[in-house]
Amino acid sequence: MIVNTWYIAGFADELVAGTPKAVRMLGHDFVLFRDSAGKVHCLSDVCIHRGGSLCRGKQVDNSVMCPYHGWRFDGAGACVDIPSIGKDIPIPKRARIDSYPVAEQWGWIWVFLGDLPEAERPALPGMDFMPEWDANGAGAYRFTRGTFLFDVNWMRAIDNVLDPAHPFHVHSEFGHVEDQRIKGYPVEDDGVKTLSRHSFKSTPKQGNWRQVMNDDRPPTKNSLQFHMSGLILRNDIHPNPGMHHFVFSAYLPIDQNKTLNIWMHGRNFFTEPKYDADTIKRTLVVFEEDTRVLQYVKPAQSPRRLTHELFLEADAHIAAFRRQVRAFEEKGWMLDPRAASFNDEVRVIPSPSRRADPKNWVLDPAITKPARIAAAE
Ligand code: FES
Ligand SMILES: [Fe+2]
Repeated sequence: MIVNTWYIAGFADELVAGTPKAVRMLGHDFVLFRDSAGKVHCLSDVCIHRGGSLCRGKQVDNSVMCPYHGWRFDGAGACVDIPSIGKDIPIPKRARIDSYPVAEQWGWIWVFLGDLPEAERPALPGMDFMPEWDANGAGAYRFTRGTFLFDVNWMRAIDNVLDPAHPFHVHSEFGHVEDQRIKGYPVEDDGVKTLSRHSFKSTPKQGNWRQVMNDDRPPTKNSLQFHMSGLILRNDIHPNPGMHHFVFSAYLPIDQNKTLNIWMHGRNFFTEPKYDADTIKRTLVVFEEDTRVLQYVKPAQSPRRLTHELFLEADAHIAAFRRQVRAFEEKGWMLDPRAASFNDEVRVIPSPSRRADPKNWVLDPAITKPARIAAAE
């Protein structure tokens, strides 16, 4: 799992002011809370006094109170109250926890998990990555949304969505059994985003969608875009000229073996709300079909070397994604999975304030694979 990028921690409207919320990311626990001005904060969930879980405490004013002895931490991670020492004694400098940069965009909470100072942090994807978004729901597109938990490693889950050859076998309503060829295709790669385009003859649709997608329609046009900020896939499908729908999925590695897909689906047909339930069902069927195959893939984590699998032209987008991950690894930004489960010791993903002032932290930083070792492997 990689650090120094943005992750989607959940839907913004599910975090209400006054109620802290737990979120697990990259095998670490965090607490999110929204202050009285509406600003969201993300802190390491582990209290540095005796390990209390902050998300199980209360929000008091604009701080979270640990349920164990009542220490309170503000949005910057500074301890602002230690009841057992009273008000007259200064709070020790080490009484602080890691706090992470947070943003809100497209109805999502974004958390930057890493220690880069602001000037070096990658930008969020621009609005051109989601031009259909309208926060008031007044645009031409009707949105549905949800989450789906894959019992699958995050790279395996992302490999799968960048793979234009699998739908013929895995999905009941995509791809056509009589022509499964995937010709070589270019992958555009600007360092943070990759894009590939495909077209395929599709299987007959079932149910409502059959009314607007008949069997002799032209080949379906499809594009796949993946952004490393947020680990977001945008899968655009044009089943007929003028018809468009897309799945917008953020992949959140809960830990090495579990990945939460936080998704939105937009469509410019059947835009009445009465079609929402059917659209959600169709989306979930696709994820379920994927997971039935992915949960048994070996090794459970994508091999580090492309030569340890047989790559063909159809796999070009997966190869581009693997190269992007490798670039993180060679910067020393890959958590060491062996270190993560070594014992019951708690380590914390280092935050920007830790880099700015590295001494006087109670908990040690998470172990990443050194850049020189990653480069040599
Ligand atoms: S463990 Fe959190 S206040 Fe003591
Ligand atoms: Fe799939």
